[in-house]
Amino acid sequence: MRTLEPEPEPTAALPPSGAGLQAATALIHHPYQPPAGFEALPPGVFKASTVFFPNVAALRARQWKDKSGYTYGLHGTPTTFTLEERLASLEGGAHCLLCPSGLSALALVNLAFLQTGDEVLLPDNAYGPSKELALAELRAYGISHRVYDPMQPADLAAQIGPATRLVWLEVPGSVTLEYPDLPALMQVLQAANAARAGQSGQGGGGFAGQGSDQAAAATPPSLAAAPLRPILSALDHTWGAGIAFCGFDFGVDVVLQALTKYPSGGADVLMGSVVTRDPALHRQLLHTHMRLGLGVGANDAELVLRGLHTLHLRYRAQDASTRTLAHWLQGQRGVAQVLHPALPGSPGHAPTGSATRAVPPACSACSGSRTSGPSRSTPFATGCACFASATAGAAPSACACPTTCPPCAAAPGRRGPALPGRSHPHTARAWCA
Ligand SMILES: Cc1ncc(COP(=O)(O)O)c(C=O)c1O
Repeated sequence: MRTLEPEPEPTAALPPSGAGLQAATALIHHPYQPPAGFEALPPGVFKASTVFFPNVAALRARQWKDKSGYTYGLHGTPTTFTLEERLASLEGGAHCLLCPSGLSALALVNLAFLQTGDEVLLPDNAYGPSKELALAELRAYGISHRVYDPMQPADLAAQIGPATRLVWLEVPGSVTLEYPDLPALMQVLQAANAARAGQSGQGGGGFAGQGSDQAAAATPPSLAAAPLRPILSALDHTWGAGIAFCGFDFGVDVVLQALTKYPSGGADVLMGSVVTRDPALHRQLLHTHMRLGLGVGANDAELVLRGLHTLHLRYRAQDASTRTLAHWLQGQRGVAQVLHPALPGSPGHAPTGSATRAVPPACSACSGSRTSGPSRSTPFATGCACFASATAGAAPSACACPTTCPPCAAAPGRRGPALPGRSHPHTARAWCA
């Protein structure tokens, strides 16, 4: 049997300026610096956990809370800062944080703004795992939730209670793609906040300072759920991709995206973004983001940066293909209803008027009534030649066929019969490029 001998020390010649160092050390602490001034379209990919400081004083004076420098890979690199700035511009916001997935971005928003005794409201057609989070972790932390019908602003008004601190919005809703009237929903929230501000005698009802460290420190936990705190709104803008409309134009406080879907576009990366305009809300998110260690890798950031170059082109092309598909589906036997925001008769068809620049390139084909079950959609999905059966994510041509109908599997209190005035038959969902 061959015994393993220790590797001999490499004897390669040292570069002239590395003289005096062992060859192995010289390879790590190599003096060569490439010339400055390399300019190209793709941003550089900078990868590091540890970053160097010129001296101990600079190390001690490091500042991770703004983008004035670098402190640790988790807190940002030139690559992630670049992506954050571009995404903030895409959404019409001012600050952006990256998370390792869309779902972790959802969790970040919940954990940053909610505390024991608070209540969060979710639309009944919210992204499924968002509801799971509310049912498991948020509940375990003493944070309750309610489900509202996003197609009925009056229902949102009815669900708001004194402990309501955060309202999630999704436009359109996941899987069934109803297109809620966002201005009407925001009016409900603004009226609730104005009433709270009036009660507190503070006036204004604005959010300025509400997320500040000072305000958080001055608020005893026992008063954290006091009715007079304003309700924050968070939009899951995954389907809109920052293109369909600008959430901030409607007064939304936080806009989130699963970059996994349209911005990356290649079905090969997971990432999420959380964008704000208000610096105080951003600071609150930033602290939670840091404490949870929600950094992203530079290679993944690079993939999304590359995807952004073609985002508008792909979104427009997918929109056109999906409209063709939606019309074709309408003529197919066995299809009970096609849900696509641009189709007359589809729930929430064009409610937002000129403020909506595009509609999401996805449509749902409903295979039957609630009683017929998902079995009707299975043969349809199986029979698709060019649409792979897939989960959500970013596959350009995918057909998702849930085993349960998401609205039927809504949180307790909404399980069972259809909401008044709503059809939510089991769906097979398709989207295409
Ligand atoms: C509307 C919506 N929000 C959030 C997510 C979560 O994104 P991720 O898969 O990156 O966790 C998804 C994923 O499909 C989604 O469709």
